[in-house]
Amino acid sequence: MQILQITDPHLYGDAGGRLRGVETDSSLSAVLDDAFSRVPGYSAVLVTGDLVQDDASGYLRFRSIFCNLRKPVLCIPGNHDEPEAMRRELQGAPFQICGTHETDGWQFIMLDSYDPGHVGGRLRPEELARLDDTLARSPKHAMVCLHHHPVVMGSRWLDTVGLADTEAFWRIIDAHPHVRAVVWGHVHQVYDGRRGNVRLFATPSTGAQFLPFSERYAVDSRPPGYRRFDLHADGRIDTAVHWIESLPMRHSAAG
Ligand SMILES: [Fe+2]
Repeated sequence: MQILQITDPHLYGDAGGRLRGVETDSSLSAVLDDAFSRVPGYSAVLVTGDLVQDDASGYLRFRSIFCNLRKPVLCIPGNHDEPEAMRRELQGAPFQICGTHETDGWQFIMLDSYDPGHVGGRLRPEELARLDDTLARSPKHAMVCLHHHPVVMGSRWLDTVGLADTEAFWRIIDAHPHVRAVVWGHVHQVYDGRRGNVRLFATPSTGAQFLPFSERYAVDSRPPGYRRFDLHADGRIDTAVHWIESLPMRHSAAG
């Protein structure tokens, strides 16, 4: 079973809107063209936050881009989202906001780490309880998805705006050995790590990237990208990040 992860498209209501030198709408479209042609048999699209750039009318663009898909579009909010508007504008198929999605022996638990007024994220007690309950109820292989990074990325500025109180999160993950992966957005770069038997993944934005291991905010020159997951019935995961090299990035220090 194949899943596409796209993340941090940062759309505006205006299709010509640009962020960090990238026209976010056309960049997302180029990513999707590549993803859908390279992985035509995908079962769902996972979108790990920052669907819009502080602009609720961006959800109308998001909706128009995805509404004709005949596959689930699984969405979670990021710090640049407006969760109420997101739920209002993305109602009904193919969209699902947070919750759990099950398919082919796997479950995707989508957590809301949005913390109003903060760039960093936080999982409310009820969200942590939902994670624990869902994992306790179903023994299916689990992919846990959220926007904010629950590990240190090694980038000083970015590590001040990750997930708060990670201990409680990891306590739950560690208690359920059928968690196969934790997947996030927010960091606009690749991460491929491991915690015991749990695979850990971050994925480049469909727009501009952040420079890995940078002390201060810095935009990378890598092009837009996305990730594919090949999820096996025995819980194994194969994955690859695909970069859209045909979209060269323009450097821009400010966003
Ligand atoms: Fe982002």
